[in-house]
Amino acid sequence: MSETKGPKDRPAAGPQAAGHGRRLLAWYDAGHRDLPWRAAPGKAPDAYAVWLSEIMLQQTTVGAAIPYYRRFIRRWPDLDSLARAPLDDVLVAWQGLGYYARARNLVKCARLLVADHGGVLPRRAEALVKLPGIGPYSAAAIAAIAFDAPEVVVDGNVERVVARLYAVAQPLPGAKAGLRRLAAGLSPRRRPGDYAQAMMDLGATICTPRAPQCGSCPLRGGCAAQALGAPAGYPRRAARAERPLRRGTAWFAVNRRGEILLRRRPEHGLLGGMMEVPSSPWRAGAGAAPILPEVAAPWRVIARPITHVFTHFRLELRVAWASLGARQGRQLAPDGVWAAPEALGGFALPSVMKKVCAAGLAATKGHPDA
Ligand code: ADE
Repeated sequence: MSETKGPKDRPAAGPQAAGHGRRLLAWYDAGHRDLPWRAAPGKAPDAYAVWLSEIMLQQTTVGAAIPYYRRFIRRWPDLDSLARAPLDDVLVAWQGLGYYARARNLVKCARLLVADHGGVLPRRAEALVKLPGIGPYSAAAIAAIAFDAPEVVVDGNVERVVARLYAVAQPLPGAKAGLRRLAAGLSPRRRPGDYAQAMMDLGATICTPRAPQCGSCPLRGGCAAQALGAPAGYPRRAARAERPLRRGTAWFAVNRRGEILLRRRPEHGLLGGMMEVPSSPWRAGAGAAPILPEVAAPWRVIARPITHVFTHFRLELRVAWASLGARQGRQLAPDGVWAAPEALGGFALPSVMKKVCAAGLAATKGHPDA
Protein backbone atom coordinates (compact mmCIF):
# COMPACT_ATOMS: atom_id res chain seq x y z
CA MET A 1 0.00 0.00 0.00
CA SER A 2 1.28 3.45 -0.80
CA GLU A 3 2.00 5.62 2.21
CA THR A 4 0.81 8.71 0.42
CA LYS A 5 -2.73 9.82 1.06
CA GLY A 6 -5.11 11.49 -1.30
CA PRO A 7 -8.02 13.70 -0.31
CA LYS A 8 -10.44 10.74 -0.05
CA ASP A 9 -8.77 9.11 2.95
CA ARG A 10 -7.95 12.38 4.67
CA PRO A 11 -9.50 12.62 8.14
CA ALA A 12 -11.93 15.51 8.56
CA ALA A 13 -10.03 18.56 9.79
CA GLY A 14 -11.50 20.20 12.88
CA PRO A 15 -11.93 23.98 13.20
CA GLN A 16 -8.72 24.26 15.21
CA ALA A 17 -6.78 22.38 12.52
CA ALA A 18 -8.19 24.73 9.86
CA GLY A 19 -6.97 27.67 11.96
CA HIS A 20 -3.49 26.17 12.17
CA GLY A 21 -3.38 25.75 8.39
CA ARG A 22 -4.43 29.39 7.80
CA ARG A 23 -1.97 30.77 10.31
CA LEU A 24 0.86 28.67 8.92
CA LEU A 25 0.20 29.81 5.33
CA ALA A 26 0.01 33.46 6.43
CA TRP A 27 3.33 33.04 8.26
CA TYR A 28 4.84 31.41 5.15
CA ASP A 29 3.61 34.22 2.90
CA ALA A 30 5.03 36.83 5.25
CA GLY A 31 8.62 35.61 4.83
CA HIS A 32 9.47 32.06 3.85
CA ARG A 33 13.00 30.87 3.23
CA ASP A 34 14.40 31.89 -0.13
CA LEU A 35 15.52 28.51 -1.50
CA PRO A 36 16.87 28.26 -5.06
CA TRP A 37 14.42 25.53 -6.16
CA ARG A 38 11.38 27.47 -5.00
CA ALA A 39 9.33 29.31 -7.61
CA ALA A 40 9.29 33.11 -7.57
CA PRO A 41 5.95 34.49 -6.28
CA GLY A 42 3.24 34.07 -8.94
CA LYS A 43 5.43 31.71 -11.04
CA ALA A 44 4.73 28.01 -11.55
CA PRO A 45 7.38 25.75 -9.97
CA ASP A 46 9.81 23.92 -12.26
CA ALA A 47 9.02 20.23 -11.66
CA TYR A 48 12.58 19.21 -12.63
CA ALA A 49 14.01 21.62 -10.04
CA VAL A 50 11.62 20.34 -7.38
CA TRP A 51 12.46 16.70 -8.13
CA LEU A 52 16.23 17.35 -8.13
CA SER A 53 16.01 19.24 -4.83
CA GLU A 54 13.90 16.55 -3.17
CA ILE A 55 16.35 13.82 -4.15
CA MET A 56 19.26 15.89 -2.80
CA LEU A 57 17.35 16.65 0.40
CA GLN A 58 16.57 12.99 1.10
CA GLN A 59 19.60 12.60 3.33
CA THR A 60 21.18 16.03 3.25
CA THR A 61 20.41 19.29 5.01
CA VAL A 62 19.17 22.31 3.07
CA GLY A 63 22.39 24.23 3.81
CA ALA A 64 24.60 21.43 2.50
CA ALA A 65 22.42 20.76 -0.56
CA ILE A 66 22.20 24.35 -1.88
CA PRO A 67 25.70 24.63 -3.45
CA TYR A 68 25.30 21.19 -5.06
CA TYR A 69 21.86 22.11 -6.34
CA ARG A 70 23.19 25.33 -7.91
CA ARG A 71 26.06 23.50 -9.63
CA PHE A 72 23.75 20.74 -10.89
CA ILE A 73 21.12 23.07 -12.27
CA ARG A 74 23.78 25.16 -14.04
CA ARG A 75 25.39 22.08 -15.59
CA TRP A 76 22.22 20.06 -16.26
CA PRO A 77 19.39 22.63 -16.47
CA ASP A 78 16.66 20.19 -17.53
CA LEU A 79 15.70 16.52 -17.68
CA ASP A 80 17.03 16.08 -21.21
CA SER A 81 20.51 17.27 -20.32
CA LEU A 82 20.64 15.09 -17.21
CA ALA A 83 19.44 12.06 -19.17
CA ARG A 84 22.35 12.57 -21.60
CA ALA A 85 24.96 13.02 -18.85
CA PRO A 86 27.58 10.26 -18.40
CA LEU A 87 26.91 8.55 -15.05
CA ASP A 88 30.48 9.14 -13.86
CA ASP A 89 30.14 12.91 -14.36
CA VAL A 90 27.03 12.91 -12.18
CA LEU A 91 28.70 10.73 -9.54
CA VAL A 92 31.67 13.10 -9.41
CA ALA A 93 29.36 16.13 -9.13
CA TRP A 94 27.52 14.30 -6.34
CA GLN A 95 30.72 13.76 -4.34
CA GLY A 96 30.31 14.89 -0.77
CA LEU A 97 26.53 14.49 -0.73
CA GLY A 98 26.86 10.78 0.12
CA TYR A 99 24.38 7.95 -0.50
CA TYR A 100 25.45 7.61 -4.12
CA ALA A 101 22.56 5.33 -5.03
CA ARG A 102 20.59 8.60 -5.17
CA ALA A 103 22.82 9.91 -7.97
CA ARG A 104 22.62 6.66 -9.92
CA ASN A 105 18.83 6.61 -9.57
CA LEU A 106 18.65 10.26 -10.58
CA VAL A 107 20.27 9.49 -13.93
CA LYS A 108 18.27 6.26 -14.34
CA CYS A 109 15.05 8.14 -13.64
CA ALA A 110 15.90 10.99 -16.05
CA ARG A 111 16.69 8.47 -18.84
CA LEU A 112 13.49 6.54 -18.17
CA LEU A 113 11.37 9.70 -18.19
CA VAL A 114 12.89 10.83 -21.48
CA ALA A 115 12.56 7.35 -23.05
CA ASP A 116 9.07 6.42 -21.82
CA HIS A 117 7.26 9.46 -20.41
CA GLY A 118 7.85 12.17 -23.02
CA GLY A 119 10.51 13.81 -20.82
CA VAL A 120 8.07 15.02 -18.17
CA LEU A 121 7.53 14.06 -14.55
CA PRO A 122 4.16 12.52 -13.71
CA ARG A 123 1.90 14.78 -11.65
CA ARG A 124 0.55 12.20 -9.23
CA ALA A 125 2.31 10.66 -6.24
CA GLU A 126 1.05 7.18 -7.21
CA ALA A 127 2.95 7.42 -10.49
CA LEU A 128 6.00 9.21 -9.07
CA VAL A 129 6.57 6.55 -6.42
CA LYS A 130 7.11 3.93 -9.14
CA LEU A 131 10.14 5.78 -10.51
CA PRO A 132 13.76 4.98 -9.50
CA GLY A 133 14.87 6.76 -6.34
CA ILE A 134 11.46 8.22 -5.47
CA GLY A 135 10.01 6.81 -2.25
CA PRO A 136 6.61 7.62 -0.72
CA TYR A 137 7.84 10.76 1.02
CA SER A 138 9.56 12.23 -2.05
CA ALA A 139 6.59 11.32 -4.26
CA ALA A 140 4.22 13.20 -1.95
CA ALA A 141 6.57 16.19 -1.66
CA ILE A 142 7.15 16.44 -5.44
CA ALA A 143 3.44 16.08 -6.26
CA ALA A 144 2.49 18.70 -3.65
CA ILE A 145 5.26 21.24 -4.35
CA ALA A 146 5.54 20.92 -8.14
CA PHE A 147 1.88 20.27 -8.97
CA ASP A 148 -0.05 21.45 -5.90
CA ALA A 149 -1.51 17.96 -5.46
CA PRO A 150 -3.33 17.47 -2.12
CA GLU A 151 -0.73 15.15 -0.62
CA VAL A 152 0.19 14.81 3.03
CA VAL A 153 3.94 15.35 3.25
CA VAL A 154 5.44 13.98 6.46
CA ASP A 155 9.17 14.01 7.14
CA GLY A 156 11.05 14.21 10.45
CA ASN A 157 10.40 17.96 10.71
CA VAL A 158 6.67 17.51 10.29
CA GLU A 159 6.62 14.63 12.78
CA ARG A 160 8.27 16.90 15.32
CA VAL A 161 5.85 19.79 14.75
CA VAL A 162 2.82 17.50 15.00
CA ALA A 163 4.14 15.58 18.04
CA ARG A 164 4.52 18.93 19.82
CA LEU A 165 1.22 20.41 18.71
CA TYR A 166 -0.60 17.42 20.19
CA ALA A 167 1.97 16.46 22.89
CA VAL A 168 1.98 12.90 21.54
CA ALA A 169 3.15 10.62 24.37
CA GLN A 170 3.94 7.54 22.26
CA PRO A 171 7.62 7.40 21.30
CA LEU A 172 8.97 7.19 17.75
CA PRO A 173 9.22 5.08 15.70
CA GLY A 174 5.97 3.48 16.98
CA ALA A 175 4.19 6.85 16.83
CA LYS A 176 4.75 7.29 13.06
CA ALA A 177 1.34 6.12 11.84
CA GLY A 178 -0.49 8.20 14.44
CA LEU A 179 1.55 11.30 13.64
CA ARG A 180 0.77 10.82 9.95
CA ARG A 181 -2.96 10.70 10.73
CA LEU A 182 -2.69 13.87 12.80
CA ALA A 183 -0.68 15.58 10.04
CA ALA A 184 -3.33 14.57 7.50
CA GLY A 185 -6.01 16.13 9.71
CA LEU A 186 -4.04 19.39 9.80
CA SER A 187 -3.36 19.71 6.05
CA PRO A 188 -5.63 22.29 4.42
CA ARG A 189 -7.14 21.60 0.99
CA ARG A 190 -5.96 24.98 -0.23
CA ARG A 191 -2.37 25.42 -1.45
CA PRO A 192 -1.02 22.00 -0.40
CA GLY A 193 2.40 22.71 -1.91
CA ASP A 194 2.90 25.94 0.03
CA TYR A 195 1.50 24.31 3.15
CA ALA A 196 4.00 21.42 2.87
CA GLN A 197 6.86 23.88 2.47
CA ALA A 198 5.55 26.02 5.33
CA MET A 199 5.64 22.97 7.62
CA MET A 200 9.21 22.24 6.48
CA ASP A 201 10.23 25.85 7.17
CA LEU A 202 8.57 25.83 10.57
CA GLY A 203 10.36 22.61 11.55
CA ALA A 204 13.70 23.87 10.23
CA THR A 205 13.68 27.41 11.61
CA ILE A 206 11.35 27.63 14.64
CA CYS A 207 10.17 24.23 15.82
CA THR A 208 13.78 22.97 15.88
CA PRO A 209 14.85 19.78 17.67
CA ARG A 210 16.71 21.20 20.67
CA ALA A 211 15.81 24.85 21.26
CA PRO A 212 12.45 25.68 19.69
CA GLN A 213 11.70 29.40 19.34
CA CYS A 214 8.15 29.16 20.62
CA GLY A 215 7.85 32.94 21.04
CA SER A 216 7.97 33.36 17.24
CA CYS A 217 5.78 30.37 16.35
CA PRO A 218 2.58 31.07 14.42
CA LEU A 219 0.96 28.02 16.12
CA ARG A 220 1.97 28.83 19.70
CA GLY A 221 -1.62 29.43 20.85
CA GLY A 222 -2.60 25.85 20.03
CA CYS A 223 0.54 23.89 20.93
CA ALA A 224 0.01 21.32 23.69
CA ALA A 225 3.74 20.69 24.28
CA GLN A 226 4.36 24.40 24.77
CA ALA A 227 1.39 24.62 27.15
CA LEU A 228 3.01 21.80 29.15
CA GLY A 229 6.25 23.80 29.22
CA ALA A 230 8.29 21.03 27.58
CA PRO A 231 8.29 21.42 23.77
CA ALA A 232 11.83 20.04 23.34
CA GLY A 233 10.76 16.81 25.06
CA TYR A 234 8.71 15.88 21.95
CA PRO A 235 8.70 13.75 19.91
CA ARG A 236 9.56 11.12 22.44
CA ARG A 237 11.98 8.49 21.16
CA ALA A 238 12.61 4.88 22.02
CA ALA A 239 16.28 4.27 22.94
CA ARG A 240 18.27 3.48 19.81
CA ALA A 241 20.57 0.45 19.62
CA GLU A 242 24.18 1.42 18.98
CA ARG A 243 25.53 0.88 15.46
CA PRO A 244 27.65 -2.30 15.33
CA LEU A 245 31.37 -1.99 14.62
CA ARG A 246 32.96 -3.49 11.51
CA ARG A 247 36.66 -3.67 10.86
CA GLY A 248 38.90 -4.13 7.88
CA THR A 249 42.22 -3.09 6.34
CA ALA A 250 42.62 -0.79 3.34
CA TRP A 251 45.63 -1.50 1.11
CA PHE A 252 47.08 1.80 -0.01
CA ALA A 253 49.44 1.00 -2.87
CA VAL A 254 51.66 3.63 -4.47
CA ASN A 255 53.84 3.22 -7.55
CA ARG A 256 57.14 4.79 -8.49
CA ARG A 257 55.40 7.88 -9.83
CA GLY A 258 53.54 8.42 -6.53
CA GLU A 259 50.23 7.30 -8.04
CA ILE A 260 47.64 5.49 -5.96
CA LEU A 261 45.91 2.24 -6.92
CA LEU A 262 42.11 2.54 -7.07
CA ARG A 263 39.41 0.14 -8.15
CA ARG A 264 35.69 0.40 -8.77
CA ARG A 265 33.27 -1.10 -6.26
CA PRO A 266 30.57 -3.49 -7.48
CA GLU A 267 27.64 -1.69 -9.12
CA HIS A 268 25.12 -2.68 -6.45
CA GLY A 269 25.26 -2.46 -2.69
CA LEU A 270 26.98 -0.04 -0.34
CA LEU A 271 28.77 2.79 -2.23
CA GLY A 272 27.93 0.89 -5.43
CA GLY A 273 29.89 1.94 -8.52
CA MET A 274 32.16 4.30 -6.58
CA MET A 275 35.96 4.11 -6.55
CA GLU A 276 37.91 2.74 -3.60
CA VAL A 277 41.32 1.90 -2.29
CA PRO A 278 41.37 -1.94 -2.36
CA SER A 279 40.62 -3.43 1.04
CA SER A 280 39.88 -6.61 2.93
CA PRO A 281 36.19 -7.38 3.61
CA TRP A 282 34.68 -5.23 6.37
CA ARG A 283 33.58 -7.69 9.04
CA ALA A 284 31.66 -7.31 12.26
CA GLY A 285 33.55 -8.37 15.33
CA ALA A 286 36.77 -9.15 13.41
CA GLY A 287 39.95 -8.72 15.44
CA ALA A 288 41.86 -5.48 15.29
CA ALA A 289 44.94 -7.11 13.68
CA PRO A 290 45.56 -5.84 10.15
CA ILE A 291 44.83 -8.20 7.25
CA LEU A 292 47.50 -8.02 4.57
CA PRO A 293 46.85 -8.93 0.91
CA GLU A 294 48.47 -11.87 -0.83
CA VAL A 295 50.83 -9.57 -2.67
CA ALA A 296 54.38 -9.91 -1.47
CA ALA A 297 55.56 -6.44 -0.52
CA PRO A 298 56.87 -4.76 2.63
CA TRP A 299 53.45 -3.61 3.89
CA ARG A 300 53.54 -1.04 6.65
CA VAL A 301 50.54 -0.45 8.86
CA ILE A 302 49.69 3.14 9.79
CA ALA A 303 49.33 3.38 13.57
CA ARG A 304 45.93 5.09 13.67
CA PRO A 305 43.01 3.45 11.86
CA ILE A 306 40.52 5.72 10.16
CA THR A 307 36.91 5.60 11.32
CA HIS A 308 33.70 6.31 9.49
CA VAL A 309 30.02 6.11 10.43
CA PHE A 310 27.57 4.60 7.94
CA THR A 311 23.81 4.41 8.47
CA HIS A 312 23.89 0.86 9.82
CA PHE A 313 27.40 0.38 11.16
CA ARG A 314 30.59 2.08 12.26
CA LEU A 315 33.73 1.21 10.38
CA GLU A 316 37.28 1.07 11.66
CA LEU A 317 39.73 0.69 8.79
CA ARG A 318 43.41 0.11 9.34
CA VAL A 319 45.51 1.44 6.49
CA ALA A 320 48.49 -0.59 5.26
CA TRP A 321 50.72 0.90 2.56
CA ALA A 322 53.38 -0.39 0.21
CA SER A 323 55.14 0.63 -2.97
CA LEU A 324 54.10 -1.75 -5.79
CA GLY A 325 55.17 -2.34 -9.36
CA ALA A 326 52.69 -2.67 -12.24
CA ARG A 327 52.49 -6.47 -12.02
CA GLN A 328 51.89 -6.43 -8.28
CA GLY A 329 49.25 -3.74 -8.82
CA ARG A 330 47.41 -6.02 -11.28
CA GLN A 331 47.62 -8.82 -8.75
CA LEU A 332 46.08 -6.64 -6.02
CA ALA A 333 43.37 -5.09 -8.20
CA PRO A 334 43.04 -6.69 -11.68
CA ASP A 335 40.84 -3.86 -13.01
CA GLY A 336 42.49 -1.16 -10.96
CA VAL A 337 43.70 2.24 -12.15
CA TRP A 338 46.64 4.31 -10.94
CA ALA A 339 45.58 7.82 -9.99
CA ALA A 340 47.87 10.78 -9.37
CA PRO A 341 47.14 12.44 -6.00
CA GLU A 342 46.31 15.75 -7.76
CA ALA A 343 43.73 13.91 -9.91
CA LEU A 344 41.82 12.29 -7.02
CA GLY A 345 39.17 15.04 -7.15
CA GLY A 346 38.13 13.72 -10.56
CA PHE A 347 37.23 10.27 -9.21
CA ALA A 348 33.97 9.33 -7.50
CA LEU A 349 35.63 8.65 -4.15
CA PRO A 350 33.31 8.32 -1.15
CA SER A 351 34.22 10.15 2.07
CA VAL A 352 35.55 7.03 3.77
CA MET A 353 38.02 6.52 0.90
CA LYS A 354 39.04 10.18 0.98
CA LYS A 355 40.02 9.59 4.61
CA VAL A 356 42.02 6.50 3.59
CA CYS A 357 43.81 8.46 0.85
CA ALA A 358 44.56 11.34 3.22
CA ALA A 359 46.06 8.91 5.77
CA GLY A 360 48.02 7.04 3.07
CA LEU A 361 49.36 10.21 1.47
CA ALA A 362 50.43 11.62 4.85
CA ALA A 363 52.31 8.39 5.65
CA THR A 364 54.04 8.07 2.25
CA LYS A 365 54.92 11.71 1.70
CA GLY A 366 58.68 12.01 1.74
CA HIS A 367 59.10 8.39 2.89
CA PRO A 368 62.26 6.86 1.33
CA ASP A 369 60.42 3.62 0.42
CA ALA A 370 57.39 5.29 -1.16
N1 ADE B 1 13.33 19.10 3.00
C1 ADE B 1 12.87 18.22 2.10
N2 ADE B 1 12.30 18.85 1.06
C2 ADE B 1 12.43 20.18 1.31
C3 ADE B 1 12.06 21.35 0.60
N3 ADE B 1 11.46 21.27 -0.56
N4 ADE B 1 12.34 22.54 1.16
C4 ADE B 1 12.97 22.59 2.34
N5 ADE B 1 13.34 21.54 3.04
C5 ADE B 1 13.09 20.34 2.53
